[in-house]
Amino acid sequence: MQPGLGLRFPESFIWGAATSAYQIEGASNVDGRGPSVWDTFSKTPGKVRNGHHGDEAANHYHLWASDLDLIKELGMKSYRFSISWSRVLPTGSGPVNHKGLDFYKRLIDGLHQRGISPMVTLYHWDTPQALHDLGGWENRDTALKFADYAALVARSLGDTVPTWLTLNEPKTVVQNGYLHGSHAPGHRDQAAAYVVAHHQLLAHGLAVQAMRPHLPAEAGIGASLNLHPCYPADGSAEAAAQTYLYDGYENRLYLDPIFKAEYPADVLADIARFSPMETYIRPGDLKTIGEPVDLLAVQYYTPIYVTGTGTTEVRHPISEAFWQQIFPQGLFDILLRVKQDYGDIPLTITENGLPTPDSLGTDGTVSDPGRVEFLRDHFAAAHKAIEAGVNLKSYHVWSLMDNFEWQEGYEERWGLIYVDYPTQRRIPKQSARWFSDVIRSGAI
Ligand code: FCB
Repeated sequence: MQPGLGLRFPESFIWGAATSAYQIEGASNVDGRGPSVWDTFSKTPGKVRNGHHGDEAANHYHLWASDLDLIKELGMKSYRFSISWSRVLPTGSGPVNHKGLDFYKRLIDGLHQRGISPMVTLYHWDTPQALHDLGGWENRDTALKFADYAALVARSLGDTVPTWLTLNEPKTVVQNGYLHGSHAPGHRDQAAAYVVAHHQLLAHGLAVQAMRPHLPAEAGIGASLNLHPCYPADGSAEAAAQTYLYDGYENRLYLDPIFKAEYPADVLADIARFSPMETYIRPGDLKTIGEPVDLLAVQYYTPIYVTGTGTTEVRHPISEAFWQQIFPQGLFDILLRVKQDYGDIPLTITENGLPTPDSLGTDGTVSDPGRVEFLRDHFAAAHKAIEAGVNLKSYHVWSLMDNFEWQEGYEERWGLIYVDYPTQRRIPKQSARWFSDVIRSGAI
């Protein structure tokens, strides 16, 4: 076990873990759930490693009560999960599926009974297939439908959830879903990708407006953004310029509209070379997207190093995820940067973690020293940010348990809790025990 660093977190600091619906729930065909783009994508041959899909996943839909017991046992005070849009509205709009909504009511009640605070994401990439068939995020109407769904959820569950997150990582939908095609819906279409960016951001703003009237005054709403600190790979003016633009695509394109009600002009001009995005921006849209929010949910995984020609370089050890360089200082840098450029917004970390090659030992335990080290170093970076005056309130590890890691299927294990998929048995890993000690002592 790692030696203690002697760093104490504020009394009010809240620790927890995160999951998302498609990645853990399973029960894809149960109680009236409609299909989402991830059902379709994962069942398209060649899209997901080993042909894995989320039909059963970690079967959390049925095992939720014992899963919540585990969260409590580990001492976590916050749990971030997402609602499956097509479980509540099987075709994305129209009649409510009460059995779907009731699942989330049970989950939220169960959390309160155990003294755990729910943090709810409304959209974690699982667009209802029926809406996708009508154009999905390329169609402005999807943003309006999302706001209707958000209002419905706020009306039904609003008084039981203190923190709401509209969208999870809209950038990943743009880049992986519409540029690289590695995520659902698997498109490779630069022109469409940035139209999708605008419509998602619009959906965020419309949802904030639609939810407010149904929420108690003290409830918080925000979005979850995966921010990437971008650094020049060398000291040249070219690298500095390319890094600035790269940062525009990774961070400013989402932060500026939400917090300044404007798109970054340099990025918009660059996008205009290959996408008609700008022609989709209607008068008033930016004011809607800039609708005041109460917090920003930051997800941090990796830095990016940019060369003078706009390519990227690797500077740090890579985790099992090919795209992840392990660099805890990046978390500190990005938190400070948000404060400097966007003001003293209350922040929560809603995702941070790594995959490790975990297996069940003959003694029935799972040791993952790499995760302990990773978390300790990132917690230390968060601590340093708090010391530097960042208004950081809470920290959610990705992920509570092993789950369906998108195009990697079940190959990558990101959980604090090991899932033995054949039996669906849960085994808290060494890192879960370590995290539990951190929570109980309030220090690393
Ligand atoms: C994030 C996603 C989350 C998980 C982690 C590893 O981009 O929001 O669902 O896949 O990466």
